[in-house]
Amino acid sequence: MKIIDTHCHYNDDQIYPIVEEVIQRAKSAGVTAIFNNGDSLESFDRILELQDRYPDFCHSVLGIHPEHANHEQSYFEESYRKIKDNLDKISAIGEIGLDYHYSKDPDYIQAQKNRFIEQIRLAKELRLPIVVHSRDADFDTLDIIRQELPEKVDLHCFSGSVEILKEYLKLPIDFHIGVGGVVTFKNARVIKEVVQYCSEKIILTETDAPYLAPTPHRGERNESSFIPLIIEAIASLKLLDKEELSKTLYEQGLKFYGLSE
Ligand code: NI
Repeated sequence: MKIIDTHCHYNDDQIYPIVEEVIQRAKSAGVTAIFNNGDSLESFDRILELQDRYPDFCHSVLGIHPEHANHEQSYFEESYRKIKDNLDKISAIGEIGLDYHYSKDPDYIQAQKNRFIEQIRLAKELRLPIVVHSRDADFDTLDIIRQELPEKVDLHCFSGSVEILKEYLKLPIDFHIGVGGVVTFKNARVIKEVVQYCSEKIILTETDAPYLAPTPHRGERNESSFIPLIIEAIASLKLLDKEELSKTLYEQGLKFYGLSE
């Protein structure tokens, strides 16, 4: 089985110090490539350094997470400059989006929307896909994507309903959902419905490691080597052959990020 982890954070303090062994375990499980997603300007250096150290395995997705939307203009300018300076190493812009979970302050929400739109436009200018984080912000995320129409989208750790998904599928964009550990959780009714409803052709495998480990590792540090558990859960929900499904998902991951086998 060949596997791609389309969204993770090996730059995180829980993984970075032991990255060598995490990569070895991932490779043993069939993982051939992982995509570290940025969240802040401070995260960029480690992500790029990991790509320099493991050029055939660690790839870079750089962007500013909505939780940093209140930073000053200069912070964003510096971030965008760094993205442009490293364009030859970058596979996508992410993770960007909206997160209303911790605060619904109107000014903060407006700042998140502005920075999300700004980074979608940057991705369009640079002709890169985007990786989107959306939490408790289903309708606003959909509105912005509908208005901006980025070419290629991965809505990572998709948490919307089948109804929301249907709206995305109407748009003239190359749309994907990232499915990770949550699909293995016993009580995760909504994502199970989404996976049953949608074509496997829009699913990308991801971990969000070190977060959101699948059952039976729930609560532990997540690793790319756990992805077979996620593929198994998707296969059983969709009544598909696991090997065949994993092949489809692998090819989709490569294609999304423009990698060749
Ligand atoms: Ni993430």
